[in-house]
Amino acid sequence: MRNRNRDWLSKIALGTVQFGLDYGIANKRGKVPKEEVFRILDTALDKGIDTLDTARSYGDAEKVIGEFPKVNRFKVVTKFSENPQEELFQSLKALRQSKVYGLLAHKTEPFLQNPNEWNKVLRLKEEGLTERIGFSLYFPWELERLWELDFDIVQVPYNVLDRRFESYFQKLKEKGVEIHTRSAFLQGLLLMDPDKLRPFFEDIRPVLRDLRTLSKSYGKDLKTLLLCFCLRNPYVDKVIVGVDSLSQFIENVSIDCSKEIEVPRYIAEEKFLVPFMWEI
Ligand SMILES: NC(=O)c1ccc[n+]([C@@H]2O[C@H](COP(=O)([O-])OP(=O)(O)OC[C@H]3O[C@@H](n4cnc5c(N)ncnc54)[C@H](OP(=O)(O)O)[C@@H]3O)[C@@H](O)[C@H]2O)c1
Repeated sequence: MRNRNRDWLSKIALGTVQFGLDYGIANKRGKVPKEEVFRILDTALDKGIDTLDTARSYGDAEKVIGEFPKVNRFKVVTKFSENPQEELFQSLKALRQSKVYGLLAHKTEPFLQNPNEWNKVLRLKEEGLTERIGFSLYFPWELERLWELDFDIVQVPYNVLDRRFESYFQKLKEKGVEIHTRSAFLQGLLLMDPDKLRPFFEDIRPVLRDLRTLSKSYGKDLKTLLLCFCLRNPYVDKVIVGVDSLSQFIENVSIDCSKEIEVPRYIAEEKFLVPFMWEI
């Protein structure tokens, strides 16, 4: 019999910033130790999760991934910040790979200023060093302005509070673009106790309370509600989830998304949705 839960699980991609840097608004533990990363990666393979999201700028995340004995079994998507060719060579060396599945631009500015710069990235694909190319975005206006370029993947933030990119999903699929979403937990913010939020987040406290009540009314925990919201979207190809520990990962891959949960459309100012705009 087909295992329905495995269908949801195979849409999860593992975020790896937490493997190379001390990361996250509620993170008290620091980066994940290498032995634990290996156990997380083993569990991922076991659950049918085959995609890793990483970047040149995630500390030593690529190096740790490269040291994992079964790294070849993953599709690795990495990102460059300034120089696509040089950084991809460094990534491949750290990952101990001859090519990656995806190469994304971490910053869109150079390509917005001069679209011809994208040819450098296209060339890396032509040379077979990456199967797919694309962008990691923060704002819908970036997507609007990059639309005419030739790309295969976009990575965008997407969660119950941040649905700014949702109206582009269908058009992206028609264009043949893979949609990878991040921030299902908004860096962990959506899982925090509303009463313990810093004053900057005062305005979204009621939303966080409402989400807790909603998940209880469906007999689900909040993590399940937040993850299944993304996983159940038919346009989304991969939901990138970051974890600080093996236990968090095990919790996240134990979810059951078979029941639909109707989530209201919350309204939140952009300053709450983009972590680098947080005044904390
Ligand atoms: N392209 C980009 O510009 C960009 C930017 C950011 C991230 N990313 C990628 O996206 C990935 C995810 O990052 P994100 O910022 O989007 O974070 P996220 O997936 O929304 O949240 C991850 C955080 O949620 C918390 N968490 C996860 N599972 C949990 C559980 N079971 N119980 C309790 N807490 C749990 C952990 O933080 P605490 O335990 O610390 O609360 C974890 O660090 C990163 O690893 C990275 O690969 C890309």
